[in-house]
Amino acid sequence: MDSTVCEIAPDVYRISTFHPEFGIQLNQFLVKDDEPLLMHTGLKKMFPATREAVASILDPAKLRWIGFSHFESDECGALNEWLSAAPQAQAACSVVGAMVMVNDFADRPARALADGEVLGIGRRRLRFLSTPHVPHCWDAGLFFDEVDQLLFCSDLFFHPGNPQPLAGDEVLGRARESIVQNLTGPLAKDMPYTPYTDATLRRLAELRPQTLALMHGSTFRGDGAAAIQNLAQFIQETLGECKS
Ligand SMILES: [Fe+2]
Ligand SMILES: [Fe+2]
Repeated sequence: MDSTVCEIAPDVYRISTFHPEFGIQLNQFLVKDDEPLLMHTGLKKMFPATREAVASILDPAKLRWIGFSHFESDECGALNEWLSAAPQAQAACSVVGAMVMVNDFADRPARALADGEVLGIGRRRLRFLSTPHVPHCWDAGLFFDEVDQLLFCSDLFFHPGNPQPLAGDEVLGRARESIVQNLTGPLAKDMPYTPYTDATLRRLAELRPQTLALMHGSTFRGDGAAAIQNLAQFIQETLGECKS
């Protein structure tokens, strides 16, 4: 698997690897700053490709932070490989993620971030929002770059294929189509609709992001608040009434 690199915001690089078997992109984001951060590691088996892409931007051994939303292999499967490659690197995830999974799984303890806590990495301030079960998993959380209004939104707005690095409102249509398609098949019911879903998505919209860095699909540029509200409405209509 080969990775392609695209700068989607100043010093924020999208490292995209298309998985031919799954038919989806796995996108990692490298944030170049005083304390460089990699958002998601990608799968363990993708480590050589991701490492090579990181090396085209900075020395991989200089990586300081590895952020991710929730404990799944595409988010943090190569965590231990990165901890080994970068001696100063530390995982940054939710308190639940650290306590329940990562501090046992990983070779070094994680920095456990409380809801609303800010991770300063130099010029940038990354605010961590605890978002249990959004997009999925108890330990889920998302990082918001307050300097460039960029939300690293993990699996929200998921869409398959190998689309272009940057896109506008067309991302919404693709994400809505995927939610419907994902109601059936072996990987069905990836996104739960819980008593917290509406309030969590409302809170994300209130951040007024201008860039939504998707893990699977094109990065969205535009009115992020409107896009999240639109998605929230669709999720409510589609999943809120889903009984089977
Ligand atoms: Fe996920
Ligand atoms: Fe994912």
